[in-house]
Amino acid sequence: MSNKPTEERLQKAIANAGIASRRHAEELIAAGHVTVNGAVVSAMGVKVTPQDAIEVDGVPLNQEEQKKYFLFYKPRGVISAVTDDKGRRTVMDFFEDVKERIYPVGRLDWDASGLLIMTNDGDFANMLMHPSYKVEKKYVVKVQGIPTRDKLMPLKDGLVVDRKKLAPARFKQISADKAKNTAIIQLTIHQGINHQVKKMFKTIGYPVIKLAREQYGPLTLTGLQPGDYRPLKREELQALEALAQKG
Ligand code: URA
Repeated sequence: MSNKPTEERLQKAIANAGIASRRHAEELIAAGHVTVNGAVVSAMGVKVTPQDAIEVDGVPLNQEEQKKYFLFYKPRGVISAVTDDKGRRTVMDFFEDVKERIYPVGRLDWDASGLLIMTNDGDFANMLMHPSYKVEKKYVVKVQGIPTRDKLMPLKDGLVVDRKKLAPARFKQISADKAKNTAIIQLTIHQGINHQVKKMFKTIGYPVIKLAREQYGPLTLTGLQPGDYRPLKREELQALEALAQKG
């Protein structure tokens, strides 16, 4: 994820600051009421970043957004990104009512469902994604084949994936379907390497068919359906921050 300041159209920045609708902001711009870095801008389409000094009738625009934190139940078939050049559904399609520029913290694969945090707080997102931040993530994984306990043991010992030795994971066998030759396993890890769970199971010879993240540190999906989100509670934010301090 990039931390580059987000560029957006001047009329959107004015609307986001809550002082005018987008249409009214366009009228203000066209009528010469708006300056960017001291110069009047009356043309449409000018892009600005939070670093630009915008004034409407000489009054500075406060571009600082309120910080927002959401727990989202990402459905399968949705990209964990703000935009997609192939026009696929993204997580943003579920947040049309949120005017702040939120984005996902880390990623869940397109074909995976489950818990994803969305925020516009870069420091908070960086904290959660820092390699020293060891929050546990619990996945429910459906695999092709029915592994014995012995076959799963390397998950616990620390597998080598992409030439990197992984930290030990915990697993629990939930069920097996002999007719379909599939099994369901719960896996708990605290790293966040790309496609980590899929790579781990592929390495031990049991490809992942279905993947869901059901827990992230103290957070669960209780009460949410795929596509739902809710704000994080203050205690939940504090609990996540406390975990970062523990390292
Ligand atoms: N591991 C994966 O393979 N995919 C995810 O989306 C998350 C963890």
